[in-house]
Amino acid sequence: MNNENSTLSLSIMSGKGGVGKTNIVLNLGYALREAGHSSMLMDCDLGLANLDVLLGISPERNLQDLLQTDLSPSEVAVSIEEGLDILPATSGVPELVEMDEDMQDILFRKLVTLAGQYDFLMLDLGAGINHTAMAFAAITQLRIVVVTPEPTSLTDGYATIKVLNTQHGINDFLLLVNQVTSQKEGKQTYERLAAACRNFLNVELRNLGYIRQDMTIVESVRRQTPFMKFAPECNAAKDIRGLARKLMRYRQDNLERIAGRHILKEFPV
Ligand SMILES: Nc1ncnc2c1ncn2[C@@H]1O[C@H](COP(=O)(O)OP(=O)(O)OP(=O)(O)O)[C@@H](O)[C@H]1O
Ligand SMILES: [Mg+2]
Repeated sequence: MNNENSTLSLSIMSGKGGVGKTNIVLNLGYALREAGHSSMLMDCDLGLANLDVLLGISPERNLQDLLQTDLSPSEVAVSIEEGLDILPATSGVPELVEMDEDMQDILFRKLVTLAGQYDFLMLDLGAGINHTAMAFAAITQLRIVVVTPEPTSLTDGYATIKVLNTQHGINDFLLLVNQVTSQKEGKQTYERLAAACRNFLNVELRNLGYIRQDMTIVESVRRQTPFMKFAPECNAAKDIRGLARKLMRYRQDNLERIAGRHILKEFPV
C-alpha cells in the first residue's frame, strides 16, 4: 500500500470523437501549471495520437517504447514546460489500437511508478467504447466525460457511461460540456444527460461546467500552439481556468483520501 500518493488521476473521455478532449487536456495542463501544479498528460489514443500534433512536436519516444522496452514513463516522457510533461502515443500502429490484458498490465504497472511525482495525471482517451479506453477509464480516480450540445454527442456520451457502469461497476462521472454558445445551453445539456443517467442507470452525473465555443481554439490547432499560451485571455482560456480551479479544489479537499489510495485503482506500487 502506498501511503505517499498525492497524484490525482483523471481520464478525459467521450463517446463521439472530435468533441475537444485533447485541447482540453493540454490547456488544462497549462492552466494547472499557471496555478503552480504539476501534471503528466498521457496520450492514450493508441490509434490516432493527438497531443504531439497540437504541440507541433515529434517526440523521439512514445507509448510503444513504454510497452515494448524496459524504459520507464519518465524516460519516455517529454517535458513541455517546467512542471508539464507529456507521454506521447503513436499513430498508425494497428496492434496498439487495442491492448490485450497483458499489455494493459505492463502499462498500468509502469504508470503507478508516477505516484506522487505529479499533482495530476491526466489520460486523454480515444473516443468511443473500445476495450482499451474503457480499461483506462475504469482505473483512474476520476472520469471526465466531454460532450458538446449536439444530440449525437449526448447519445454517444450516454453509451460510454452505460458501458462503464454496467460492465465495470463505475458510477461516478463528471460531465464537461464543451462548445456551448450560452450558459443556458450548457445547463440544458447537462440536465438532459443527467436525467437519462439518473432514470436509466441510477447514476448521478456531476456537473463540472462548460467551455464556450471559441474560434481561438480552431486558430490554436492550426498554429499548433495551445491557446492558453498565445491567447491567455480568450473565453476558452477563462473557462479552462475555472475548470482547473475546480480540480485543484477537489484534489485539495481529498488529499487524505488520495494519499490512502493508489494512483490507479487496484494497482499498488
Ligand atoms: N470550445 C471550442 N470552440 C470551438 N471549437 C472547438 C472547441 N473545442 C474543440 N473545438 C474544435 O474541435 C476540434 C477537435 O478538438 P480535439 O482534437 O481536442 O477533439 P478530441 O475530442 O480530442 O478529438 P478525438 O476524439 O479525435 O481525439 C478542434 O480542432 C477545434 O476545431
Ligand atoms: Mg483527441
